[in-house]
Amino acid sequence: MMNNIGKNIPLILAPMAGFTDAPFRLLCRRFGADRTVTEMISAQAMVYKDQKTAVLAKIPEGDTQCAIQIFGHDPAVMGEAAAMLASGEYSGCTYAHPPQAIDINMGCPVRKIVTSGDGSALMQNPALCGQIVAAVHRAIQPYGLPVTVKIRAGWDSAHVNAVEVAAACADNGAAEIAVHGRTRNQMYAPSSDNSIIRAVRRALPDSISVIGNGDVRSGDDTCRMLEETGCDGVMIGRESLGNPWIFSAVRAALADALYTPPTEEEMRRTAMELIESIVQEKGEERGVRESRGRAAHFIRGMRGSSRMREQLNRAQTLEDLRNILEVNGI
Ligand SMILES: Cc1cc2nc3c(=O)[nH]c(=O)nc-3n(C[C@H](O)[C@H](O)[C@H](O)COP(=O)(O)O)c2cc1C
Repeated sequence: MMNNIGKNIPLILAPMAGFTDAPFRLLCRRFGADRTVTEMISAQAMVYKDQKTAVLAKIPEGDTQCAIQIFGHDPAVMGEAAAMLASGEYSGCTYAHPPQAIDINMGCPVRKIVTSGDGSALMQNPALCGQIVAAVHRAIQPYGLPVTVKIRAGWDSAHVNAVEVAAACADNGAAEIAVHGRTRNQMYAPSSDNSIIRAVRRALPDSISVIGNGDVRSGDDTCRMLEETGCDGVMIGRESLGNPWIFSAVRAALADALYTPPTEEEMRRTAMELIESIVQEKGEERGVRESRGRAAHFIRGMRGSSRMREQLNRAQTLEDLRNILEVNGI
């Protein structure tokens, strides 16, 4: 089968609620992510003009290729929210750069989301998926922004309908579909199935990009994804959490170039840089609370990491975190 290995395929940071905030997106951009996506944002909350939601849609200086992801199930509400984001007329949200796309979440498996009929629950109703894409497309076309969609393989093993849902989205104006090769019921195990991504790639016209997602943790995984699916871009989620360098590693592997992984000191220092930006954005109390788990990803596998993790869990201040990560004076 045709594959895109060697081509300059885009490497995309996957949207991850609680993680892909502006500081983390900037970090991934610095280490080679070509594109980013915000955390998912409630279309309903936006339409109610909720100010806590507005900050999620902030695009900082340097995050030049960022899509904003929305979730919901009512085509009218989704269209209205998309128009607010595309026009920039959403009080409280500030863009250093306009969004590159509005992305629709059709993959979130979390109970609270699917019981409201949002996220991957939408895949149970391909016609509704098409209506939502049509509404968002209509709303943002005047601003020249494309609609992209993120789906899973289907709801469960008896309903693997990614091809049908992707076609409904493409027929209604989606320019790109990212496919995570698991069903909703699989959540995050067993491993992601590339054959469903290949089926979507084969079913859609070449004018629609198909992005492969699921379990990409290395250059080899990326090559396998490209070879097995023929996809047009690769989206990386969990591996990036403590390893934003994954994008440089993958890019080097695709170019058959040498990659030098970061030293432990660089890893700790980069974690601290991220924490400092988070604290700057969110204040010390909330920033430190959120940073404990996020720093833990960076120290995975380091000597003394379990002791450091315990200390991180007790950290109260930015100074505590600096001491634990031993980045004083670096
Ligand atoms: C903590 C966490 C939060 C996530 N939040 C979102 C989200 O807001 N929107 C979305 O479309 N997918 C979300 N996902 C799914 C990821 O984008 C991605 O599809 C999934 O993790 C599989 O890719 P990976 O194996 O590279 O991690 C989330 C995943 C994780 C682990």
